[in-house]
Amino acid sequence: MEQFFVRGGVPLRGEIRVGGSKNASLAILPACLLVRGKTRLLNVPDIQDTHTMAAVLRHTGAHVQFVGPETVEVDATHFQRAEAPEELVRRMRASFYVLGPMLARLGTARVAQPGGCDIGARPVDFHIRGLQALGADLRSEGGIVTGHTRGLRGGEIYFDFPSAGATTHVMTAAAMADGITTIGNAAMEPEVVDVANFLNGVGARIRGAGTPTVVIEGVSELATDTEYSVIPDRMEAGTHACAAAITQGTVVLQNVIANHLQPVLVKLQEMGVQVTPLSADGDHPISIRIAAPERTQCADILAMPHPGFPTDMQQPLVALLTVSRGVALVTDRVFENRFRYVTELCHMGADIQVSGRTAVVRGVDHLSGATVTATDLRAGAALVVAALAAQGETAILGVEHVDRGYSKLAEKLQRVGARIQRMDPESPARYLRAV
Ligand code: EPU
Repeated sequence: MEQFFVRGGVPLRGEIRVGGSKNASLAILPACLLVRGKTRLLNVPDIQDTHTMAAVLRHTGAHVQFVGPETVEVDATHFQRAEAPEELVRRMRASFYVLGPMLARLGTARVAQPGGCDIGARPVDFHIRGLQALGADLRSEGGIVTGHTRGLRGGEIYFDFPSAGATTHVMTAAAMADGITTIGNAAMEPEVVDVANFLNGVGARIRGAGTPTVVIEGVSELATDTEYSVIPDRMEAGTHACAAAITQGTVVLQNVIANHLQPVLVKLQEMGVQVTPLSADGDHPISIRIAAPERTQCADILAMPHPGFPTDMQQPLVALLTVSRGVALVTDRVFENRFRYVTELCHMGADIQVSGRTAVVRGVDHLSGATVTATDLRAGAALVVAALAAQGETAILGVEHVDRGYSKLAEKLQRVGARIQRMDPESPARYLRAV
């Protein structure tokens, strides 16, 4: 198992190009199964999770190829196997998103209940009820969901909570259902809008994505041989912004959509970070300078569904809060168990107390290097951010969680001056010479 080995204390300076969105890609890749032919996707991040999704799609008979940097071609002409390998679905929750396309195109499906990051109960009841509302007969037994339909038809769905995954999943299945589907209390995340834009690009008729009500008018066929570019990853951008801020550095983030980052950027500004939009595509900044000339101040965080502060940024932001001046209350309203990682930050000297869904973070003068373990993807990101500012050396275990969602994280940070290295734990001496 590889580790990250970090020597903190270097202010980051330079430019970082942000990759494509993990969560949008993980919903768009299975949506390609609806197309009876080829689709070309650009800006797909080269991360473990997109490769896992490619493996799931290949298992169904689709042809999936990474044809260039961040470019993937999916040919779903021979999509004929209505089953997803249990091992892959348990490894990554998004694998479950193939259920809808299987029902839509093949009329049958067999998919295991999903796994993924351990951050709460994370049931799939909204997905199942949503697909049932489209006329699918679904049963869950022994951890396996099986489904049949003689043809999906439009239906009315209202989610108890605006679930990003259930919204994109049901929207995708409904794209080829017979009639009109309405999703109420839909998630409004930019990734949901991106999936709708992709589907509309291949001929679907979806209105209202990005608002609480999404209306889908089913079509019988989608266009082949199209190309679509996935949005940039707002979580990757936000993580680099926290890394710049905690090291009191200056970093220009390239390939971002500033609007998508607004809840995070506003919070960083409240903490004293300077945020300057640079180049723009029309009215939309596509590069932003993040500068933190001095130590940041604490600010409270309330993680909520979009357009609230994103739960996926809660952890890197808490890492920044640990060395900010003052006290902050951090509440996560999306997942009930997303504070497990704070124990690791406390090993580095952070002062954090957790009670239920709320953490109280008291800023300390400095963190100290330690050996810590990433328990999930964003926990890993938080530990990297913390280690970049810690005095001394930090070894971060569980790097495989980070690899699920960040492409070349260490390399990107090295290019802006960070002393971070992947290390083979068997030969630490080799690393020590390298830094
Ligand atoms: N929920 C249910 N039933 C369901 C679905 C969701 O009760 O059927 C609950 C969840 O337990 C949670 C809340 O609804 O409390 C919201 O979950 P949501 O469905 O929105 O999350 P998700 O779709 O499973 C995606 C991202 C997560 C991100 C959340 C929230 C992907 C592959 N994952 O998960 O990303 O935290 O939306 O924005 O898109 C990450 O990138 O680190 C990550 C965990």
